[in-house]
Amino acid sequence: MSSRASDRRPGDPARNPDWYERGLAHVWLPYAQMKTAAPPLPVVATEGSRIVLADGRVLIDGIASWWTACHGYNHPHIRAAVERQLATLPHVMFGGLAHEPALNLASRLAGLLPGDLDRVFFSESGSVAVEVALKMALQYWINRGIRTRRRFVAFTGGYHGDTAGAMAVSHAMHGELRAVLPGNDRVALPQDEASRAAFDRLLTQRGDEIAAIVVEPLVQGAGGMRFHPPDVLRHIRAAADRHGILLICDEIFTGFGRTGTLFACEQAGVVPDIMTLSKALTGGTLPLAATVARPNVFAAFWSDDPAHALMHGPTYMANALGCAAANASLDLFAQEPRLAQVRAISAALARGLAECRDLPSVTDVRVKGAIGAVELERIADLDALRRRFIAAGVFIRPFGSVVYLTPAFTIRDEELSCLMRAVCEVLSERAW
Ligand SMILES: Cc1ncc(COP(=O)(O)O)c(C=O)c1O
Repeated sequence: MSSRASDRRPGDPARNPDWYERGLAHVWLPYAQMKTAAPPLPVVATEGSRIVLADGRVLIDGIASWWTACHGYNHPHIRAAVERQLATLPHVMFGGLAHEPALNLASRLAGLLPGDLDRVFFSESGSVAVEVALKMALQYWINRGIRTRRRFVAFTGGYHGDTAGAMAVSHAMHGELRAVLPGNDRVALPQDEASRAAFDRLLTQRGDEIAAIVVEPLVQGAGGMRFHPPDVLRHIRAAADRHGILLICDEIFTGFGRTGTLFACEQAGVVPDIMTLSKALTGGTLPLAATVARPNVFAAFWSDDPAHALMHGPTYMANALGCAAANASLDLFAQEPRLAQVRAISAALARGLAECRDLPSVTDVRVKGAIGAVELERIADLDALRRRFIAAGVFIRPFGSVVYLTPAFTIRDEELSCLMRAVCEVLSERAW
């Protein structure tokens, strides 16, 4: 019994708050083997790039809460916008009713997104945004009277979320569950001659069965922080066009500056037919997501036939607090030098992580935008490595064989230096 996550304490149990002691036995933690997982750290406050623990320790955050908190925690501009919204209209259903924060946000996104992506369907999590994108793509063909296009092509190493449809197009994370999900085609990203040939062959053989291709543009995040150059995306777009297939770009991780441009697709000059957004959409404050379609997709649903409607409507879609936070986050992108900050972080990461290259277990060090990744041959004891980072005063959460940094764009120079020093020093201590 003593090895259950709920029985083990991160520090001195006497210093853990009551709510922690009472509640831990009743929560089921994410991506965790509950029997052996290290217990979570009790957090009592966040500020900027700092996480304050119940026992008074302060950690510098290298992850920005799963890549969401791009402006740092508790940004006063977002907080004020959410507080104002809370006082007047925290939430109202989106069926039959509309409100200013959602409609403002939709029109602002349409103005910012590449090309003519201009019809926004709101939901409350990235996985649901992906479900909506898949559903849009399937029904696009049905509404057009084409009933053969029911499959998706997705890529090795890709990750699109944890709901059933999203799992069915993911490669990373879901293990055996993938096998019981509807059959789709998974191929290597067309990055070299052989993989391009395999990809092109698949489309030639099965092109008229494929509803859409789903890709994370430029970076496969949860699949291992793997980068690919913009011409891969251009190749995919061109192939999709040749075979009349829709292209879904999942910018849930890459959207809002993470790769150096507001959206990763911009670097390839590619406009997808459908794009998914979430994570940094609200600057890491509230759950909100969006699936955005181009007019060609929307047109297939515009009809006198009720059966042509998109039958989807999450209860909390377009939550007014979330939309207010997202509008405030977009203000910050307009008013503060976020992309310049990403460039500076990128240069610092390239310099600061370079020394890891010479460590015996390191196989690669790579940087794109505000993402720095150190790839190891393997990490045998992830928990021990995570604990070691915490002991070093930083919150860095390696997974698979990758230690990575995705800090807030507002992180201070000395905080970023501290994170990079921790990565280099901890990895040089021993083989993990
Ligand atoms: C590219 C991508 N798509 C989809 C998702 C799923 O988003 P959520 O966790 O909000 O459901 C993630 C989450 O990490 C992601 O990185």
